[in-house]
Amino acid sequence: MSVSEYKIEHHTYDVIVVGAGGAGLRATFGMAVKGLSTACITKVFPTRSHTVAAQGGMSAALGNMGEDKWEWHMYDTVKGADWLGDQDAIEYMCREAIPAVIELEHQGVPFSRTEEGRIYQRPFGGMTTEFGKGTAERTCAAADRTGHAILHTLYQQSLRHKAEFYIEHFATDLIMDDDGVCRGVLAWDLETGVLRVFRAQQVVLATGGYGRSYFSATSAHTCTGDGNGMVTRAGLPLQDMEFTQFHPTGIYGAGCLITEGVRGEGGYLTNSEGERFMERYAPNAKDLASRDVVSRSMTIEINEGRGVGSKADHIHLHLEHLGGDVINERLPGIAESAKIFAGVDVTKEPIPVLPTVHYNMGGIPTNYHGEVVTLKDGDPDAVVPGLMAIGECACVSVHGANRLGSNSLLDIVVFGRAAANRCAETLTPGANQPALPTNGLNKALERFQRIHHADGNTSTAEIRDNMQQVMQQHAAVFRTGESLQQGCDKMDAIYASYQDVSVKDRGLIWNTDLMETFELANLLDCAQTSVQSAINRTESRGAHAREDHPERDDAQWMKHTVAWVDDSGKVAIDYRPVHEYTLTDEVDYIAPKKRVY
Ligand code: FUM
Repeated sequence: MSVSEYKIEHHTYDVIVVGAGGAGLRATFGMAVKGLSTACITKVFPTRSHTVAAQGGMSAALGNMGEDKWEWHMYDTVKGADWLGDQDAIEYMCREAIPAVIELEHQGVPFSRTEEGRIYQRPFGGMTTEFGKGTAERTCAAADRTGHAILHTLYQQSLRHKAEFYIEHFATDLIMDDDGVCRGVLAWDLETGVLRVFRAQQVVLATGGYGRSYFSATSAHTCTGDGNGMVTRAGLPLQDMEFTQFHPTGIYGAGCLITEGVRGEGGYLTNSEGERFMERYAPNAKDLASRDVVSRSMTIEINEGRGVGSKADHIHLHLEHLGGDVINERLPGIAESAKIFAGVDVTKEPIPVLPTVHYNMGGIPTNYHGEVVTLKDGDPDAVVPGLMAIGECACVSVHGANRLGSNSLLDIVVFGRAAANRCAETLTPGANQPALPTNGLNKALERFQRIHHADGNTSTAEIRDNMQQVMQQHAAVFRTGESLQQGCDKMDAIYASYQDVSVKDRGLIWNTDLMETFELANLLDCAQTSVQSAINRTESRGAHAREDHPERDDAQWMKHTVAWVDDSGKVAIDYRPVHEYTLTDEVDYIAPKKRVY
């Protein structure tokens, strides 16, 4: 088949950013400010990106509500990550948090305020003072709509600095040359059906997570691991894919997020006996222990028969005692969500909640500048020229085996900014670019055509449902070797079934069937690498809780999993060392110890 059936248009920029969430927009306007011609490609309207759903806030040791230090924030992040995080990158993030928030304030984010007019900060899980002794008030909040406020501000700044946008465009594949250099990206204009070939000095992936590989997730339906899929098809690996975070408080049945900020403001969890059970599992931090700890505790309560409701299969979250004024001022969004999705008046009744898939710690391996790294030629620091990844699609790794709440908005802003700074150092605005590599471009176009004309017998929805059920059942809060092996076997079959996928509609304008088929391919790569990485890691660390290997094993497993998946779904696994060093001499490496809250 010839690709002449498509209308193809060519575009050249210094930088192409794929994705318009917080990371993508922070990078986009940061690049534009530095004089680089920059275009952002996004499959949804920018202010509908999933960052809009982030509620509780963004961490930074500003010390507005009591003494705080970035060194304490760094300690909490290392401990929260269960020592799988790279400490050079964690130092960078926690230091840069402070100027990054101040910049956001100057750019126009309407943060909530203290009586004195400073940025309001609330407690969040795992955030402490003095290396675990006290409770830190570190999470900068705009009520419970912080992501919404940040996203709108960053979009406005991008427009102000004349960045260009290709909205409702779906990026399908990277265009790589034969030497492994990324030279551009192919995107499908959903409104006109045109295929756009983008050539750039640098492609920055900011495509978010892959929560929708599971059946129930707080993630938007657009969180389909698109950048991760593009990377695997370019022959590059994904890192630490076994680490999926379950947020303790998704609304039972609906999956919508109820912010950890509720517990930060004094909310608490109870079981069917009315007991505040977190006091048993985390005597100091209680309901503000880190998310993996709270999610496991809730799951144990339910499994031991102390769940609430007619099926004893969920937990209660109370905020009735906070009073209407606090709820109206600090938590108006979740009061509305609880009413709509659970029929609950939070001033009178508890919210029914359940641990729900929320965040992917794993993703595209990068250094702290946002440059994609690979194990090429055995060099763990070798970068892929022309390719960056930032935000949830990336694995820097600052979150290691478990991310602390409010370190995600921080990550997207800090590393979006870092990527822009790096491009300003390494790229020349308007530099001549060679013609795009024919092989790389043809490969991307031919794949587009293959999927566009897929005429098998299995619907995209059926394959996706199979995958989501398997992930939900076999890669859950608790895992065993046996359940993971079943998950791997089932995923192999589901992966193979994509060969038989059918796209019913051959149109190119608003063809959501075709778009979901592209998204499914990306999700399958994420799911396949997740279960294979999980079965290989025979220890428990952070969000990866193996009932058959309940202890953390630092002697064997202080290493990142690196996984490649080929066209047939076969996964190859290797490992790379955790960075057991800091960025500067101002802080010492934080050695592993028992993780208690
Ligand atoms: O609970 C929340 O507001 C979520 C925050 C986060 O994931 O960082």
